[in-house]
Amino acid sequence: MSAPLLEVRNLSVEIVTGKEKLRVVEGASFSIARGECVGLVGESGSGKSMSAFAILNLFPSPQARIAGGDILLEGRSLRGLSPREWRQVRGAQIGMVFQDPSSYLDPLIPVGRQVAETLRAHGRNEGTEARVLELLDLMELPNAAEVARKYPHELSGGMRQRILIAAALALRPALLIADEPTTALDVTVQAGILNLLTRLRAELDLGILLITHDLGVVAETCQQVHVMYAGTIVEQNGVEPLFRRPRHPYTQGLLGSVLGPESRAGNLFSIPGSVPGARDMPHGCRFHPRCPAAKHGVCDTDEPPLVIRAEGGSDRCARAGEIANAWERAA
Ligand SMILES: Nc1ncnc2c1ncn2[C@@H]1O[C@H](COP(=O)(O)OP(=O)(O)O)[C@@H](O)[C@H]1O
Ligand code: SF4
Ligand SMILES: [Mg+2]
Repeated sequence: MSAPLLEVRNLSVEIVTGKEKLRVVEGASFSIARGECVGLVGESGSGKSMSAFAILNLFPSPQARIAGGDILLEGRSLRGLSPREWRQVRGAQIGMVFQDPSSYLDPLIPVGRQVAETLRAHGRNEGTEARVLELLDLMELPNAAEVARKYPHELSGGMRQRILIAAALALRPALLIADEPTTALDVTVQAGILNLLTRLRAELDLGILLITHDLGVVAETCQQVHVMYAGTIVEQNGVEPLFRRPRHPYTQGLLGSVLGPESRAGNLFSIPGSVPGARDMPHGCRFHPRCPAAKHGVCDTDEPPLVIRAEGGSDRCARAGEIANAWERAA
């Protein structure tokens, strides 16, 4: 069997300040095949962006670093690459888009030139203009030639995000990492971008890591999903089984807010509180202070391991079976 497009093995990320080392990602593992969209979902502060930055070896803060594990692209470890090799991997093999399209575009340069710049930065100087127009067409931007001459402020938020996706895919990378790509957009524009990603995935056989706090976005776009909480993956499964029979109370809480009270009467609970930081991580199950199913003496003693289940998927909950059954009974 050939290697997956991306394999993240037991990844840990820490932030080092003075003598303090904070683990913000702990033992995360997942893989992405070509043509597959994998969702990484969790509330703000779960460690999703840190995982993405680790894959790209591009942390926004010099204090953050990979503390353990491995990242393999088509079977080749990315750890220990030289800065020159990294520049080749980023853009050419892995494309990236972020939440706020405005902050990644230069307001003083027409957008077509900005996409062309990505090509030139990688030494593609021939046929640049034609390739830019082809990319803008691929992004379903009408009148590509006209759009290319516009400045960022002349375009809507959705169009700006399409320009950034065009730039991310300019060099035909096999993998796209999209970190909250639709969070800054309103709902109808968001749907357009998700449809675009779905089409690009199929047409270009693109692997996508889609990072979001919204399970609704995952339902529309992904095949596999990893739920992240306080730096660890707490549940993993195909999208269909995860929505049908979620086994972790945190997943159920996230789903409750997607499905709404009318379709989840009796089983809906909002999740009180917020994600703990690495400095005040609770003992035992990291979710126990917020978990409506927590049992004293079970959940507050040892951290549950991530267990692979015979029915498929994996979860990190000592009471997963009972909790999944309760969800199904209420459905
Ligand atoms: N520069 C930093 N210094 C200290 N802690 C940080 C820094 N950047 C992020 N963190 C912490 O790392 C954790 C994970 O953050 P992040 O990956 O951005 O979460 P997410 O993308 O899921 O919202 C959070 O607890 C956050 O507070
Ligand atoms: S182990 Fe206990 S506290 Fe943690 S999610 Fe499961 S039931 Fe809740
Ligand atoms: Mg983030």
